[in-house]
Amino acid sequence: MRSIIDVMDLSVEELDELIASAEDIIEDPDKYAEVCRRKKLGTLFFEPSTRTRMSFEAAMYELGGHVISMSEAGSSSAAKGESVADTIKTVSNYVDIIAMRHPKEGAALVAARNASVPVINAGDGGHCHPTQTLADLLTIHREKGSFENLTIGLCGDLKFGRTVHSLCTAMSRYAGTKFVLISPEELKLPSYVKKGVLRKKDIPYTQTTDLEGSLKDLDILYMTRIQRERFFSEEEYLRLKDSYILTEEKMKLAPEKMIVMHPLPRVNEISVSVDEDPRACYFKQVLNGKYMRMALIIKLLKEAGRL
Ligand code: CP
Repeated sequence: MRSIIDVMDLSVEELDELIASAEDIIEDPDKYAEVCRRKKLGTLFFEPSTRTRMSFEAAMYELGGHVISMSEAGSSSAAKGESVADTIKTVSNYVDIIAMRHPKEGAALVAARNASVPVINAGDGGHCHPTQTLADLLTIHREKGSFENLTIGLCGDLKFGRTVHSLCTAMSRYAGTKFVLISPEELKLPSYVKKGVLRKKDIPYTQTTDLEGSLKDLDILYMTRIQRERFFSEEEYLRLKDSYILTEEKMKLAPEKMIVMHPLPRVNEISVSVDEDPRACYFKQVLNGKYMRMALIIKLLKEAGRL
């Protein structure tokens, strides 16, 4: 049974296929309105979410399917101590495909190993968030026209930011990618991503704490939130939380064609006034995420022989 835990579970050809499929859905949504008729998606969210859960659910409804949702661990038998494995074995009896978010790294893999339907990782702790990366890739494709020769600035929490880890992995497969890693010392990209992805693929990167000085060189600025929920110490979080704030003033230092991305939710790291700048693409990412999730649901259900 094919599940998607990491964006590396999809080949570059499959990513191209998903992007083409999402673009076709955007072009002609009526063609897809009944594709998943009588199919059910189970959304199991053991950690808070707005975009990922609701876009998965909107995706399934727009494909003509149904959704069964568990949006709070406290309202499920997880609160009585049921394991992820047993929960997934149970839910597999009710639905055709599962999207799961869990605070523990590796929980999605455990789910996939115990499921009899495809499982899509909707975020496992600080590890991976592959469908956010699908949203990011469609946004890059639509805004920049190509994945090649892009210099990407990743800014904020690069240590715990699972969307950053997944995007590094995905973009390192395209020619000419360069990264500028902008973070406080305490939140630098983990060495397993630097060694296991960037150095392994000979991707040029620089590390800096300076956002303003980096802007002029970027094609894409990918901002991230400093994530309170990943810190062990509240004091450390309070010290670092406003390390980077992108303002209209700072945007004056950026190239006219640079785009600003952010997986959202945002707290303080992008001033609301930047939303009016035509280079701000983060709400386009939100919509693109729904189309890519539609494309992925169709692909996995077809591969599982359920469509
Ligand atoms: N980008 C993202 O994963 O948002 P949510 O936490 O709201 O799902």
